[in-house]
Amino acid sequence: MNVHGKHHRTIWLKKDDPNVVQIIDQRHIPHHFVIENLVTVEQFAQAIRDMHVRGAGLIGATAGFGMYIAALHAPKSSPQAFMAALVEAGETLKATRPTAVNLAWAVDRQLKAVEDAGDEIDARVQTARETAQAIADEDADFCRRLGEHGKAIIKEISKNKKGEPVNVLTHCNAGWLAFVDYGSATAPIYAAHDEGIAVHVWVDETRPRNQGARLTAWELGQHGVPHTVIADNVGGHLMQHGMVDVVITGTDRTLYTGDVANKIGTYLKALAARDNGVPFYVALPSSSFDWEHRDGLKEIPIEQRGAHEVKYIRGLHDGKIVQVLLTPEESPAANYAFDVTPARLVTGLITERGICPASEEGVLALYPEKR
Ligand code: MRU
Repeated sequence: MNVHGKHHRTIWLKKDDPNVVQIIDQRHIPHHFVIENLVTVEQFAQAIRDMHVRGAGLIGATAGFGMYIAALHAPKSSPQAFMAALVEAGETLKATRPTAVNLAWAVDRQLKAVEDAGDEIDARVQTARETAQAIADEDADFCRRLGEHGKAIIKEISKNKKGEPVNVLTHCNAGWLAFVDYGSATAPIYAAHDEGIAVHVWVDETRPRNQGARLTAWELGQHGVPHTVIADNVGGHLMQHGMVDVVITGTDRTLYTGDVANKIGTYLKALAARDNGVPFYVALPSSSFDWEHRDGLKEIPIEQRGAHEVKYIRGLHDGKIVQVLLTPEESPAANYAFDVTPARLVTGLITERGICPASEEGVLALYPEKR
């Protein structure tokens, strides 16, 4: 996507130095555009844990590149020592954030690719580099494709509204910044906008880290998509007054049975959507499917983050990013980062292979090889 008119991805190998991976440090957006170099596995782990990068697809792509850097620096004395270092790096990366399934998926894909590359160490390193790039390229391609499928939903609503702007509500940032390019929830929006369909996006601010207010609003603005930031509690009111045509969110992990884990507050939007007859779609590339577990409420680990993210708020003051205390200093705070929306509240899943019902039959009809 474009930043100040120039195309960027969210992660890439540094031009002329393939020992360095570059990311956009998202903690500074929207106020500053900062590019960070990552050269050690610990830096990758910290970038994921402290959310320099975040969002399901980008966490996966970062883990993919992290495993390549681990391969670059792993001992070359024997295939066993090399592999042991990679397994350890994979454990370090997997331990950073528990909910997004893309993280473990990317680490395991790298381990298998490297293992299959034979005993020659240089070939293994080369394979790790190619696999990291393939994970990133595939992420971008899948998001572009799911955008085309999701565009049909927006187009149909636009036709029924005789070209009046289609009002889409989204939560958190399942945009370009949460992936390598295009985004998941935003991909249909960008595709519709680029085709000349009038779209307007209600952007949930998404406390406590405000990924909607900071990131989604910024990237929609960079792409010229009309949008309005709203406080998290506004969506239900808008739906009651016919001001939302469709809700599209992303997901950090969706079970093949259709249960959806996404940023905290998603479930409440799904309830409000159901009560008001507003379609509620979830957009995801297949790397965000969990093919093992069946029951979202019981089986998806929900990350709990530090209380300071709830108690303090960050913003721009006199040109600098500062943080201020919001609550009584001594009040405890709880910070559940995700919730689970049961499949029954989801109208459909928008994937790179098409749109399907949020059910085991629906998902497996699109992905028969997972039967
Ligand atoms: O905690 P984050 O910012 O990594 O949360 C992930 C998200 O961005 C959202 O939950 C998003 O809607 C799904 S990830 C594409």
